[in-house]
Amino acid sequence: MTTRRTIAPEELDTLNLADPRLHAESDLSAVWRHLREHRPVHWNPATDTAPGFWAVTRHADVTSVYRDSARFTSEGGNVLETLLAGGDSAAGRMLAITDGARHAGLRRVLMSAFSPRVLEPIVESVRRTVTRLLGDALEKGTCDFAADVAAGIPLGSICDLLGVPDRDRAYVLSLTSSALGSHEADSTAADAWIAKNEILLYFANLARDRRDSGHADIIALLAGSEVNGLPLDDDEIMLNCYSLILGGDETARLSMVGAALALLDHPDQWQALKRGDAGIDTAVEEILRWTTPALHSGRTATTDTEVGGHPIKAGEIVTVWNASANHDERIFDAPGELRLDRTPNKHVTFAYGPHFCLGAYLARAEIGAVLAGLRDLVAEMEQTGPAKPVYSNFLSGPSALPLALKAA
Ligand code: HEM
Repeated sequence: MTTRRTIAPEELDTLNLADPRLHAESDLSAVWRHLREHRPVHWNPATDTAPGFWAVTRHADVTSVYRDSARFTSEGGNVLETLLAGGDSAAGRMLAITDGARHAGLRRVLMSAFSPRVLEPIVESVRRTVTRLLGDALEKGTCDFAADVAAGIPLGSICDLLGVPDRDRAYVLSLTSSALGSHEADSTAADAWIAKNEILLYFANLARDRRDSGHADIIALLAGSEVNGLPLDDDEIMLNCYSLILGGDETARLSMVGAALALLDHPDQWQALKRGDAGIDTAVEEILRWTTPALHSGRTATTDTEVGGHPIKAGEIVTVWNASANHDERIFDAPGELRLDRTPNKHVTFAYGPHFCLGAYLARAEIGAVLAGLRDLVAEMEQTGPAKPVYSNFLSGPSALPLALKAA
């Protein structure tokens, strides 16, 4: 079990939703429920160092913002970290923070590398990796499910997609952990900045090697493609590789570790999965809803407008909270219950609309492989120590989960 301090709605006016500690160390479900009911479009006030922003919490309002990239652009940044710092220098060049015709063109190029047919060998390799990592953990009898199992899965597939050599993978993993989330309460923005720059440098070098060497990976695909009649330059290739690794590694890892924790905390659902009362496909969707590894997305209003009837001024920052929308009682029956056979399940874990997660198929396959592996290979699992949270206002989930496992 995890114990986190429950924050009461009365404390709302003292909270800063941009504070990583708040999300790591407390349970905000009562606050989200209160906001959805009474203040669905909430103003998070400015601090000494950062501007204020809107926080949108109802599912219908969240999808209305996601849907409309003309009124709510991603080009000022798509997460609080960059929005509050005044923007993202990769805007207009990196897929997630590009809008309009350029976004559509770049997305078309990248989509071709993410079709189920192209991903099939990578998904096969994910299944083999899960079997191997769970097999090793079962042989030892104990593991840190985050470091020993989950960490080896998504980064491996992204590195396969990008053609990153085996010898560099541990190095790339260590950088992605410090660049996006943080496993330590006291790590600084400077640590994250250094790690991001090291990743960019790494991909710049890899892209330079790949341009001439006839590989069949995403770097080669980007290097050989045109968007709106123009080839991509080295910076654009490097930034889009970087975005795949940052967008697809830690998010998927956190949902896998969150899956194991959810099964430990809900023995009835673990048994339902083992008996086959809940199928893998619905279980994957419910785990995605339950874990919501990407807490929010952010936009900037391009014009004076409204969300759910609430006025928003041009230039204001609008954040949409997947963590709240995924528990909206207007959409989900008993949202506070984990139900692995839940259907329909209209979660917004992968966002919605034009920026819907490009890696959703791959992430679903990875989580499905982990759930199937646990169901088929593990008879019993027990938590042997506290789960450690990730410190971030964007990412959520356990960064460490000590377990004892028995083979089926
Ligand atoms: C976009 C979540 C896995 C690549 C997004 C967005 C979310 C998200 C919320 C929308 C961001 C926005 O609207 O500003 C997740 C979660 C994952 C996951 C929770 C795992 C459980 C992956 C994987 C990859 C990936 C495995 C690639 C290997 C991307 C890309 C975009 C994106 C490239 C930008 C799409 C666009 O702007 O058109 N993801 N993601 N994601 N994701 Fe994922």
